[in-house]
Amino acid sequence: MSSSRLPGFYQKSIEERQVALAKWAGLSSDEVQILAGAMGLNAESADHMVENAVGTFGLPLGIATNFLVNGRDVLVPMAIEEPSVVAGASYAARLAREGGGFVCSSSEPLMISQIQILDLAEPHAARLDVLANKARLMEIARDVDPMLVRAGGGPRDIEARVVESALGPMLIVHIIVDCRDAMGANAVNTMAERLRPALEDVTHGRVNLRILSNLADRRVARAKVVLPLAALSFESDGVHYEGANVRDRIVEAWAFAAADPYRAATHNKGIMNGVDAVVIATGNDWRAIEAGAHAYAARSGRYTSLSHWGADKNGNLVGTLEMPMAVGIIGGATKVHPAAQVALKLMGVTEARDLSEIIVAVGLAQNFAATRALATEGIQRGHMALHARQVAIAAGATGELIERVAAQLVAERHVRLDRAQALVAEQGKS
Ligand code: MEV
Repeated sequence: MSSSRLPGFYQKSIEERQVALAKWAGLSSDEVQILAGAMGLNAESADHMVENAVGTFGLPLGIATNFLVNGRDVLVPMAIEEPSVVAGASYAARLAREGGGFVCSSSEPLMISQIQILDLAEPHAARLDVLANKARLMEIARDVDPMLVRAGGGPRDIEARVVESALGPMLIVHIIVDCRDAMGANAVNTMAERLRPALEDVTHGRVNLRILSNLADRRVARAKVVLPLAALSFESDGVHYEGANVRDRIVEAWAFAAADPYRAATHNKGIMNGVDAVVIATGNDWRAIEAGAHAYAARSGRYTSLSHWGADKNGNLVGTLEMPMAVGIIGGATKVHPAAQVALKLMGVTEARDLSEIIVAVGLAQNFAATRALATEGIQRGHMALHARQVAIAAGATGELIERVAAQLVAERHVRLDRAQALVAEQGKS
């Protein structure tokens, strides 16, 4: 496997990048065209995916370079409209290589499906009745998806809780299902629906909702990164930032997020910038991932940071991230969307768990890039160049004029639409 360290990749033209990528990952010209958007999801497929389809909606697809995940070089496709995210992830991944890259792991891919049972004379007794009938209930759930069972997955356990609610106690049954390489929503929702008659029979209650939980806390992925102090020091605008100082400022930034939900929401948003971009590029359900992430961040009863940052005994900066990661590589849009298939091929992903581990590595990288910038030179400096290009385009610049107008806006340190329009009018003539 070649190195994902591709110096100068960002300076190449889009066509040169496509050629380099095809060579790197052994992509066919059709696969490159799919990533390029020329042969991506078409309206006909879209028509099979949603109601009242009229077409498809595009997003920029960038490649994050430099990632080393469990010793393996990975190029990561990121679908995102926001400037600086792909650059931030690539930059963080480059520094992370100096500490050995990202060390990732994940739990078994266990999803939870919930069944709400009401109108119970004695909910605690009904709970024990459910548990006493576990074998029979598991059998019914197992019969729902023989393919999943053949693939080594299927129901693993049944749990029951009495939950106090505004309407009094209710019994909530959880089916724990190993979804292997599927996200699993369809399988676990069907299992919950199929169990209804048996559960009403066992409990003498009334089943209401049957649906998975997006708080997928049995399906988590984890990433750890060690950043040596030498990798942290840098120069910007003539200012030298020393490694130990950068480390301490990042840890201070993390402590702020860990203590204050107002900051934690933004800190976690930075993590999700990386996470969602890969989730989207692989055709996965980013709303499910978002819901799971924020519920997990609030699991103690107080919303807090999803990541942790501190110093190890040698003084290196150490970051960790653990979060639910219910992603699949088979079924749904992952299968239908041509670009999602190529994205998986590009990353050399063969199991859903591999994908979940790469995604948390990117989330942690993104979190590092954002907090490092915020805690040192500020976020606007890095944003400005890319933002300036968008403003130049919005002002009507095309072709070479985009870069010229953007460079001028940055040099003037005023990235404003009215100024960009004036520059387009002025320079467009020459
Ligand atoms: C912007 O999309 C993300 C940040 O706000 C994240 C953060 O504040 O940590 C820069």
